[in-house]
Order: sequence, then structure tokens, then C-alpha cells
Amino acid sequence: GDAVPFYGVRQAGIVTPAQDRLHFVAFDVITKRREDLLAMLESWTAAAARMTAGLDAGTFGAVGGAPEAPPDDTGEAIGLPPSGLTLTIGFGPSLFGRFGLAGKKPEALADLPRFPGDAIDPQISGGDLCIQACAHDPQVAVHAVRNLARIGMGVVSVRWSQLGFGRTSSTSTSQATPRNLFGFKDGTANLKAEETALLDEHLWVREGDGPDWMTGGSYLVTRKIRMMIETWDRTSLTEQEAIVGRTKGEGAPLGRTAEHDEPDLTSDAIAKDAHVRLAHPTQNNNARLLRRGYNFVDGSDGLGRLNAGLFFIAYQRDPRRGFIPVQTSLARHDSMNEYIRHVSSAVFACPPGLAAADDFWGRSLL
Ligand code: HEM
Repeated sequence: GDAVPFYGVRQAGIVTPAQDRLHFVAFDVITKRREDLLAMLESWTAAAARMTAGLDAGTFGAVGGAPEAPPDDTGEAIGLPPSGLTLTIGFGPSLFGRFGLAGKKPEALADLPRFPGDAIDPQISGGDLCIQACAHDPQVAVHAVRNLARIGMGVVSVRWSQLGFGRTSSTSTSQATPRNLFGFKDGTANLKAEETALLDEHLWVREGDGPDWMTGGSYLVTRKIRMMIETWDRTSLTEQEAIVGRTKGEGAPLGRTAEHDEPDLTSDAIAKDAHVRLAHPTQNNNARLLRRGYNFVDGSDGLGRLNAGLFFIAYQRDPRRGFIPVQTSLARHDSMNEYIRHVSSAVFACPPGLAAADDFWGRSLL
């Protein structure tokens, strides 16, 4: 139930040990006035600082304001603890065509290319701004997103949003590895918060990488990946393990015995088209990602199948040396492709954290 500090060198919600629940939201900016966008971002920041501390979004609160006015908090989090809430903001490529921002767009923030097999629905992809809300209580995450959308009325509109549960990645060595909806441990070979030298190399944007406003930040890629659960469930255990390249129980690389043993990629035990072989840094010019995804089940699809899968989230120093090469190799050869379909895609630039309450989201950019 504890609060995660909102201010700091980095934005919270990246190396923060992954919380249990996600509400991710992408917004379109609908105003043409830069000062309206700035004012909203300042209000968002104040509300985010309060909500992550377990307070109401506004200073009067859900029931403390004038009775004839709509409350400055929606009320559904009254009495709930902070629940580890983090709110992480990102700026999408489409924002930079407006507000005089063209010269500030990082080269690393290009729209993602189309990958073989993509079935991307533009209505649930992209966005000018995003907020990743993570918390141990879904009500707390939903409350935060709802209040930011309420505050942003007239300036932004919600483009798409996604709920997630059962974090599929451990982002800290203090966490046991959770499982995705294929039933496999997910996050074993992830970058971890404790690996600070690797994070400096692969996660955080360095001075000179691009425009200064992103130094100390990170790039976020999201992919909603539908899983063909029913087909997977009719596949033998041996085949499932061959597809992943790890055992289902222990999560050990095939041919080895323990979860954290290094996969032996010289051995035939791990197939040429196994997921962990194709995703491995040695196959992708040393690409490393901090994966922070969540499972989703959006009910069923009307054909008797679960509309379920993985809402994949990855942070990295530069998508051109992180997600893009890894996904290029997976999209071409991964034997898992028969059981998954990428249906949404987005990329955002997440600036560094705010030092103190006199700063606000987007100030260094706008
Ligand atoms: C590893 C599942 C999509 C990148 C793994 C592992 C599993 C898994 C079970 C092994 C445990 C671990 O190290 O975490 C899945 C499923 C996916 C999916 C079910 C889709 C529904 C992706 C995508 C990417 C990706 C889209 C990036 C483009 C990786 C990487 C590793 C990995 C980098 C670690 C490889 C290593 O160094 O051993 N994934 N994954 N995965 N996955 Fe995925």
C-alpha cells in the first residue's frame, strides 16, 4: 500500500518493481493553443503528485469543494492507500508536427516500421501523449487515468486505453518471475533495476544521444499482442517448450536445469526458431530491453474465444537499437507467431523525472 516517490532523477514506473495492475492511456491533443497544453500539463503534474501520494486529484477533494460545482476528484479512491501508484508520461511522434516542436523531435522517436505479420488497428495505436498508470489496486490506477482525462477535457481526448493485470515481467531481482497467459515465466532474462551499468548502457538516454530534453529519459514501445489461447491450449507441452525455448515448469533454458542458467545457444536443444534464441541479445547486436508488460483479457470475441494476450511494454535507450531489431528477427522467424498477432503499436519519448514541485511535465520540451 506504500507510496512510490513522484519526484526524482528518473520517472517512476520504469525501473520501479512492476506493480500488479496497469491502466495505460493514449491521448490526442485537440487544442491548437500551446498555452492550453502547457497549462494542462502543469495541472496534470500537480494532480499526479497528489494521487501518487494517495491524495485526491485536487486540493478540495471529492467532497470538500463547493456543493454547486463538480468535485475536483471523482471519489472512487476515497479511503484507498497509494497502492504503489506510478504515473509515467510519454510524448508520441505525432505531437511534434505542431506547437513549433519539429526541431525538438528526437530521431529515435520515429514511427515504428511495419513488421511482417502485423495486424495493427490504427484506432488503438499511436497517440500524442501517453500515461502509464501502474498500481497494486486496479481501482487506484483507473482513478488516476480518469482524473487526468477529466482535467484534460477540451485540451486532449482519450484515443485508446488498455487495462492489464498480472504483470508479466519482473523488473527487479527482488521479484519472483510471474507468468504470461501461455503459462510460461516471463521476465527471466529481463533487464533488472539492480543492473545499473546495463541500464546506463541500454535503458537511459545519454547526453548527446539526441535533444537535451530527453537526456536521462527512456523510449517506450507498446504492442498489444493478441494470443490465440485456444490453439495454444491444444498444443503439446513439448511443442510449447520448443516454441519458447525454455521449460514450462522451472523456466530453465532447454538443455539446462535452473531458471537463471544461461541458455546455451550453441546447443541443438534450443530450436533455430525458438523465441528465446531469436530474442537473445547475441542474435540482435546486443539489443537489451526492459520489458514491463501485462496480461489482458478483454472479455471474449463473440466467436467463443477469449480476447486475451499480452500488452507488451518495453523501455530502452533507442528503439532503433532495441525493440526494432529484436521484433524484426521475431516477426520473420519466431515459431510463436502462429499463436500471436500484434494488433496495436505505439512509441513514446518519456523524459527524465521532475526534480521538485516547481517543475512540471513537458516544461523542458514545450
Ligand atoms: C523472453 C514470451 C513477445 C522480447 C521471453 C520468454 C518468454 C516470452 C516466455 C522467456 C522468459 C524471459 O526471459 O522473459 C513472450 C510472449 C510474447 C512475447 C508470450 C507475445 C505474446 C515479445 C516481443 C519481444 C520480446 C514482442 C520484443 C520485440 C523478448 C526478449 C526475451 C524474451 C528480449 C529475453 C531473451 C533472452 O535474452 O533470453 N518472452 N514474448 N518478446 N522475449 Fe518475449
